[in-house]
Amino acid sequence: MQRRQFINLSSLGLSAFTFSSFKSSSAIRKPIVISTWDAGIEANKAAWKVLSNGGHALDAVEQGVMVTESSQNCCVGLGANPDRDGFVTLDASIMDHQFNCGSVAFLERIKHPISVARRVMEKTPHVMLVGEGAQQFAVAEGFPLESDKLSNDAKKAYENWLKKSEYKPVINIERSQKSTAFAPSKLENGEWNHDTIGMVAMDANGNLSGSCTTSGQGFKMRGRVGDSPIIGAGLFVDNEVGAATATGQGEDVIRICGSHLVVEFMRQGLHPEAACKKAVERIIKAKGIEKSKLIQVGFIAINKQGEYGGYCIQKGFNFAVCYADDQNFLVDGKYIL
Ligand code: GLY
Repeated sequence: MQRRQFINLSSLGLSAFTFSSFKSSSAIRKPIVISTWDAGIEANKAAWKVLSNGGHALDAVEQGVMVTESSQNCCVGLGANPDRDGFVTLDASIMDHQFNCGSVAFLERIKHPISVARRVMEKTPHVMLVGEGAQQFAVAEGFPLESDKLSNDAKKAYENWLKKSEYKPVINIERSQKSTAFAPSKLENGEWNHDTIGMVAMDANGNLSGSCTTSGQGFKMRGRVGDSPIIGAGLFVDNEVGAATATGQGEDVIRICGSHLVVEFMRQGLHPEAACKKAVERIIKAKGIEKSKLIQVGFIAINKQGEYGGYCIQKGFNFAVCYADDQNFLVDGKYIL
């Protein structure tokens, strides 16, 4: 590494080791799509259908996560765990290659919050709509108002939670698990512990987009909103640099503007994996090691070369990577604690 480059990196607080330990290949890998957790495998398939036919990354990331939102046995969409008052409330965001973005938060009874987020982006002068207003907008746009009945799994989990009604903001502490497609892990007490699908993609034209959708933390306080619909926290795309998304304890992602931070680290020259690692380190530094042991946060990212990476606080996070008809696979996230 040249001396001047080394000095520049040093002044940014980055070590030569960090820079050189993630090697770049010269060929650009595109299209490519990556998404969080095991459920990302099925979501990637839908996104890949769009990308492999020359479609736009924006359409891919919307259609990809819609698969997970439709699932009734996952912690995303209307089948997911409710808040502590027994209502499922949904958050979602989407962002394209031109800094256009849209999001919805605290949205109830709408099956595809990601598509409402896209309509906010495309049809309103705003970036974010919440609660009743978001629902009114969705209905006006033709989205059907679904039943507020809980799915069978969510009902069982809620009834179980009600026995103690403990408010414990601890999510995504994963058990070691066999990774099987479309099978989010269950805790020993029967509750699902995946909370979010985040997806970022680059299309054949080299344009990036991202999406993020969640029911948020199970049994959260009514009105709680996590990182997923917050642009810069749960999702960020800069078409010159790369795209990143987050999963896990939203409050801690919001505190450090996590996905924006990952993209900024990539702008400084870091490989996506190294960029995600540094964002995770920032959370641990802010929160302290002992408190960080109680939570999970995972970031995933891609850059303009089609390189990808992910990192998390502790063991158990994985993400799905797809860049060819026969290449859609899970990667275990490296972890710090
Ligand atoms: N990461 C999702 C949430 O905290 O709501």
